[in-house]
Amino acid sequence: MHFNYLKFEKRDKIGILTLNRPEALNALNEGVFKELACFLSSKEIIQSIRVLVITGEGKAFVAGADIKAMQEYSPQAAYDFSEIGKQVFDQIANLEIPVIAAINGFALGGGLELALSCDIRVASEKARLGLPEVNLGLIPGFNGTQRLPRLAGAGNAMYLMMLGEGITAGEAYQLGIVQKLAPPETLLEVSLELAEKVASKGPNAVKLIKVMVRKGLELPGKDAGKMESKEFGRLFKEDQSEREEGISAFLEKRKPNW
Ligand code: CAA
Repeated sequence: MHFNYLKFEKRDKIGILTLNRPEALNALNEGVFKELACFLSSKEIIQSIRVLVITGEGKAFVAGADIKAMQEYSPQAAYDFSEIGKQVFDQIANLEIPVIAAINGFALGGGLELALSCDIRVASEKARLGLPEVNLGLIPGFNGTQRLPRLAGAGNAMYLMMLGEGITAGEAYQLGIVQKLAPPETLLEVSLELAEKVASKGPNAVKLIKVMVRKGLELPGKDAGKMESKEFGRLFKEDQSEREEGISAFLEKRKPNW
C-alpha cells in the first residue's frame, strides 16, 4: 500500500501509523482522510497487529483541519468534509483493536478530535491541545462537540471550546483528556511500552472491553449493565479458550500463552 500522507511500521504485534504531512503540521485534508480510511479498512494489516499507535511527524500531532482547503468551501462541501472526517474517526473508535494516540506536539481542532477518537492518549509534556475553531468563526466539525464532553465533562468542554485557547499537556492530563505524560524524547517509547502491555493481555478480552465501553456510552445504564452480564456469561462457553488459558495460567502460576 503506497501513501503520500501516512507512514506505517510494524514492530511485532504493534502497528505505528504516522501522519506525515509535516510541512502543513499534518493538517487534515480530503487526501489525508482518504488514505486514513483506506489504511483503517485494510483487514490484512489490522488483523496482523494487536494495538495501533497513531502519532505525527515533526512538531505537530495534527494542527487541525486544513484551513487553506476550507477557505473556498460551499455549505455542501463543508457538510461533506465534516461527514468524511466523522466517518474516518468513527472507523478508529470502532476499530476492533485498541488505538493509542501518541501526541507528540500540537493537537488542535481536528487533531484533538482525532486523538479523542482513539482509546487511550499519551502526550509529550510539551504538547499543546485544544479546540480553537471559535477563533476562525467555526465549531469543531469532526465530533469534538460530542466526544470531548463525554470524556472531560460538559463544563470543561464548553470552557475549552468557547475560549479556544488551548491547554498544556499537563492540564489535559488533569482533566482526564490525556491518560499518561512522557518527556518528548521518550514519547514513542513510552507509548509502545503501554501498547506492548495491552498486547500481552487476553486479546479478545481487550477487544470486548472496547466494545463494551463504546456501546455502553450510547445506552441507558440498565441496558448497558445487561449487555455486560451477557458478554461476561458468553466468555464461559466451552469454546472460549482464551478464558480457559488465562485462568489455568493463574492457577498454575505461569504466564498465559495466547
Ligand atoms: N491547516 C492548514 N495549514 C496549517 C494548519 C492548518 N490547520 N496549521 C498550520 N498550518 C501550516 C501553516 O499555514 C504553515 O504553512 P506555511 O509555511 O505554508 O505558511 C505551516 O503549517 C507551519 O505553521 P506555522 O508557521 O503557523 O507554525 P507555528 O509554529 O508558528 O504555529 C500553530 C503553530 C500554533 C499550530 C499554528 O500553525 C496554528 O494556529 N494552526 C492552526 C490551528 C487551528 O486553528 N486548528 C483548527 C483548524 S479548524 C478545524 O480543525 C475544524 C474542524 O474541526 C473540522
